[in-house]
Order: sequence, then C-alpha cells, then structure tokens
Amino acid sequence: MKSPLGDRSRVKIAPSILSADFADLGRDCARAMAAGGDLLHVDVMDGRFVPNISIGVPVVASLRKATSAFLDVHLMIAEPDRYAGPFVEAGADAITFHVEIGGDRKQRIRDIRSLGVAVGMSLNPSTPAESLYPYLLGLDLVLVMSVHPGFGGQSFIEAAVPKIAAIRAEIERCGSGAEIAVDGGIDPATAPRVRAAGATVLVAGSAIFGAADPAAVIAAMRG
Ligand code: DX5
Ligand code: ZN
Repeated sequence: MKSPLGDRSRVKIAPSILSADFADLGRDCARAMAAGGDLLHVDVMDGRFVPNISIGVPVVASLRKATSAFLDVHLMIAEPDRYAGPFVEAGADAITFHVEIGGDRKQRIRDIRSLGVAVGMSLNPSTPAESLYPYLLGLDLVLVMSVHPGFGGQSFIEAAVPKIAAIRAEIERCGSGAEIAVDGGIDPATAPRVRAAGATVLVAGSAIFGAADPAAVIAAMRG
C-alpha cells in the first residue's frame, strides 16, 4: 500500500471512525473515503489510558477486508508494546502510541517500525511539546491531541495551535520527515488555524460522519 504520509505540501484528511455507525462500519468508511478522505483514523481505547472503551483487533481485521484505505491505528492504551503486533497483523498501516506511556520510547519506535508500518507518537493537551523532541527523527507522524482523548465531539482546545507551531519549528530545525496530525474538534472552522500552524493531517470524526454533505466538509477543511 502506498502511504499517503510523507508529502507535507499536501493536506490530508483522516476521517476518525469513532464517529461512524459501528453497525454499518464498512458502508460509513466507504462513504468517508469516497467523500475525499485520504486515510482512516482508527481509535483504540482500553478503559485504562482513557476513560472509555472503543474497538480492538477484530474490528481492524474486518475493516482491512472491507477497505483498501490506509489505516492509522491510534492506540490510546496502557500497553502498546503488547498490542502493536496484533494490530499490524490485523492490517494496520501505521501505529500511533502516546508519549505519556512509560518505558523506552526509542526502542518502542524501532519495534513498531520493524513490523513494517509507519510510526506515530501522540501527546495529550496537558503534555508539553518538548516531550516529543527527542523522538522526532524516528517518527513518520506526530499526533497532537486538541481534546482530552477518550471521546468524539468535544470542543477544540486552542492551546493546540501554538503547540503545533512549536513542534513544526522543531521538526524543521532537526530535519525530521514527520508530518503533524491534529485530533479533536477539527471542523471547517478550526481547520484553517491548525493548517496555518503547520498541521498537514487533519483527523475529524463528528464533523465528517455527522455531516449531510461530507465531501463539502472535507473540501472545506482541506482549504
Ligand atoms: C478522541 C479521538 C478522536 C475523535 C475525534 O479521543 O482520538 O480521534 O474521534 O473526534 P471529533 O473529530 O469528533 O472531535
Ligand atoms: Zn484519535
């Protein structure tokens, strides 16, 4: 599969399936991609790292059969080392884990990359941008949370904008190839601010799956 990541001159839209109808997930994913989505964002929650439980490995395996879309699996889970492999076997194309999870992050990046997928690292709204800087050279993606993770449909936290700008500046300074994604409260109103700050992958759940005309929403967010 050709990765949609790597070209920072193009803004990508990643529909977040958390806001899809899970009883019609294949249909909703097909609609979101037909409406102009560039990759699918898959939120995995374990009820430990975040106060909610969403989906697991079997759903990714079913999705893999239903769509050829690039699947970025956002692990909001306490044990990424234990589950990254099973998600890749199920069909994930990228694995994004949280910097807040302890342990040897550089080794974790190498381990995930050795599975043959792209690697992303995410940070919560309360985590400073600098916490990611030691890892930027090893990453394909930085996922800036612009809501407290766990639920779709929350309001955008404005402090994400200067945080994206700071990370983008550090990426340019150190020569990392990573793209910046932003996740939470992204819609046609907030998208221009995060794009201007340097985000090139916009994750959006409720704005896309709740829209009467998702193609218009995606086009508006892309700018
Ligand atoms: C939140 C998830 C998001 C969520 C975003 O924990 O990581 O991906 O789906 O939802 P919206 O776009 O509705 O804020
Ligand atoms: Zn997410």
